[in-house]
Amino acid sequence: MGKSVRTFLKHTAKDFYNQSVNPPIVRASTIIFKSMNDIKKTQRNYKKNPIGGHFDYGRQGTSTTHILQQMLRKLEESYQVYLTPTGFASIFLSIFSVVRPEDEILITDPIYSPTRVLTESYLKEFNIKSIFYDPKNFKDLKNKVSKKTKLIYVENPGSNTFEFQDLSKIISLAKKNKIFTTIDNTWGTPYLLKPIKLGFDMSIVSATKYYSGHSDVMGGTLAVNKRTFKYVERANKIIGFRLSPDDAYLITRGLRTLDVRLEKHQENAKKVSNFLSKYKKIKLLYPHKKGSQNYKNWKKYYQGASGLMGLKIKCKKNSVTKFLNSLKLFGYGYSWGGFESLALHQESVSKEKRKFTKLAKDEHLVRLHIGLEDSKDLIEDLKESLKFIK
Ligand SMILES: Cc1ncc(COP(=O)(O)O)c(C=O)c1O
Repeated sequence: MGKSVRTFLKHTAKDFYNQSVNPPIVRASTIIFKSMNDIKKTQRNYKKNPIGGHFDYGRQGTSTTHILQQMLRKLEESYQVYLTPTGFASIFLSIFSVVRPEDEILITDPIYSPTRVLTESYLKEFNIKSIFYDPKNFKDLKNKVSKKTKLIYVENPGSNTFEFQDLSKIISLAKKNKIFTTIDNTWGTPYLLKPIKLGFDMSIVSATKYYSGHSDVMGGTLAVNKRTFKYVERANKIIGFRLSPDDAYLITRGLRTLDVRLEKHQENAKKVSNFLSKYKKIKLLYPHKKGSQNYKNWKKYYQGASGLMGLKIKCKKNSVTKFLNSLKLFGYGYSWGGFESLALHQESVSKEKRKFTKLAKDEHLVRLHIGLEDSKDLIEDLKESLKFIK
């Protein structure tokens, strides 16, 4: 990248003609060529350099999406970055690019709940077996590798319970057994963790979250290394995913401040987690506690933490309901990664069946996204509402 990431994010993605600090939004289905020969030339150029932005039809992108791809390729330090309409589409693309009937996939448990539905039930219809492994026990993963394993699908940290894994061990295991690897890196983004550089074949980010950062866009990205490029390029042509130029523009704009926002999310989340750690009935699921396995693995790989954390609260459901309903600054709703704080009671919104990290009786999982408000106000809001946790 040359410059620091902070500078790079501000000084990239200019207008092709250097006329404005941001790229123009170019919308197109048809691309007009000067001559019959010209379209052939573009197609030849694509064959020579498939990541060079040689488009003959709008589904492949326009200069707006290409500029975002270039920006993300540098940030991810990857060979190519695919832009998809949602983070979930990127998850689908990564799996369908490499997995075929009769194959097995090893998947982190717990996993983002729609990913569980996709792998556990939908893939079964294609005779693809999903096997879930315990993120706290590397041996469990190792023992589950078979000759049929095609892909190790990692989510780090684990969904809602925030387990951090020893990522290099997973990569070495996969390489030794010629297995593809994918990571869902939405929590960290390549600002905090660069999975392709570390050795993963594919890395997913839901651009809906921190990339766009303003809770008004949906999008997904899939970064790939050179070895995996040909599989994903082929699959994406067949599936036909594309991100609209308008959304690509908003994501490019969001990326300008990714560094500043993530650092503020982290600063606020640290203050909130320090405050919450005083409550005996709350077990914090955030990698700040020195000496824990999660802290060790987080410190080893990440440049920092984002603003999403879990709380395991031991109390009656009624108390959790009152706590969540009384919050004033934390909105109750899906998603995260925007400027605002959010809360969600996991068991009420998801029927997921965790194989590991199960909750005990009277244990409740609450997810908090710590936004960019003044941390004092957030703490005050939590303090008032936590009076209901008895
Ligand atoms: C970890 C994680 N990965 C992927 C997704 C899917 O992203 P999208 O909502 O953009 O489809 C989400 C959405 O909440 C998520 O939390």
